[in-house]
Amino acid sequence: MKILVTGGAGFIGGNFVHYMLKKHPEYDILCVDKLTYAGNMETLAPVMDNTHFKFVKADIADRDAIFKIFEEEKPDIVVNFAAESHVDRSIEDPGIFLKTNILGTQVMMDACREYGITRYHQVSTDEVYGDLPLDRPDLFFTEETPIHTSSPYSASKASADLLVLAYHRTFGLPVTISRCSNNYGPYHFPEKLIPLMIANALNDKPLPVYGKGENIRDWLYVEDHCKAIDLIIHKGKIGEIYNIGGHNEMANIDIVRLICKELGKPESLITYVADRKGHDMRYAIDPTKIHNELGWLPETMFKDGIKKTIQWYLDNRQWWENIINGEYQDYYKKMYEGR
Ligand code: NAD
Ligand code: DAU
Repeated sequence: MKILVTGGAGFIGGNFVHYMLKKHPEYDILCVDKLTYAGNMETLAPVMDNTHFKFVKADIADRDAIFKIFEEEKPDIVVNFAAESHVDRSIEDPGIFLKTNILGTQVMMDACREYGITRYHQVSTDEVYGDLPLDRPDLFFTEETPIHTSSPYSASKASADLLVLAYHRTFGLPVTISRCSNNYGPYHFPEKLIPLMIANALNDKPLPVYGKGENIRDWLYVEDHCKAIDLIIHKGKIGEIYNIGGHNEMANIDIVRLICKELGKPESLITYVADRKGHDMRYAIDPTKIHNELGWLPETMFKDGIKKTIQWYLDNRQWWENIINGEYQDYYKKMYEGR
């Protein structure tokens, strides 16, 4: 069994590579990644010597490069994590989101059609459903919730999902899609809420909370997401969409306060800054389908997962310091200075 994992040098793809090599030591894992600003070979360093692992640098939107990889490697299953993933960057510059997230998905599926695979799995997001109001805690996203996107990022992910379903219906491509809520855990790039707040707090820097910090996200420990994808690619029904989430809704401000408390830092570091344009209020996944059909349930409680995550950032300072000392500084200045 050979699994082609795109975007494996990023946060969730990297965790998936680690998880799969442990869980299925007999499988070959081929990682294809463009190594954008978000891709990091240090995330893959622990597996580079594994004879069942191979890394190829390539852009999923580069048809010639991707077809050549399929020709040479003949993967059985493809799991497409590769994407531009940060909402704030999509507001600054949507173009690359459309190219990678939509056209890249098309190229990957065209290669699957040409060379044949048993499964193409698209890693999507709960953001395709838009948002829910704060005053309706009874509402959740199900797989039937209409697509209703807010940001260029979520619009590009939703477009890709539609294309995946079209390739299934029109060409019979054996696809599955998963739509997960916010992940947290090791190797999370420090432009995202939790790692940004941990890194800033450790450096005694201001903790920039957008708006009033009331927005709610539904947090899932990244390993639980990896377990769900492993189940879907082996047991999920072809042509189906599976929502993944663990009923763990939290307001941003409560997460930031918790990080301060865990690190022994004062809440006076918290700074309220201008809100994100089009900021989604609340995400909340109903994971009934994946539970009933595949028996998946999240295993890591947030109170344990956040402690493990903070400990990982304390133990792996070099990993994130290398990032925040590089071109990230220009990004940070552009996004946060005078905000
Ligand atoms: P990330 O930004 O940390 O990593 C993305 C990876 O994709 C990087 O290694 C990058 O180099 C690579 N990449 C980007 N463009 C590429 C291209 N054109 N060709 C090849 N590789 C390319 O992202 P993440 O947070 O790990 O998200 C992974 C996937 O999961 C994305 O599809 C995202 O939409 C989805 N998702 C993320 C979350 C979350 O909370 N982070 C939740 C639900 C779904
Ligand atoms: O829901 C799944 C999505 O979760 C994924 O599809 C995306 O790829 C992933 O990036 C994530 O999107 P969010 O926009 O929810 O994540 P982010 O970490 O950027 O922001 C989480 C919340 O925190 C959001 O309400 C904005 C807020 N925030 C974020 C940053 C970076 C702040 O208040 N301050 C910040 O500095």
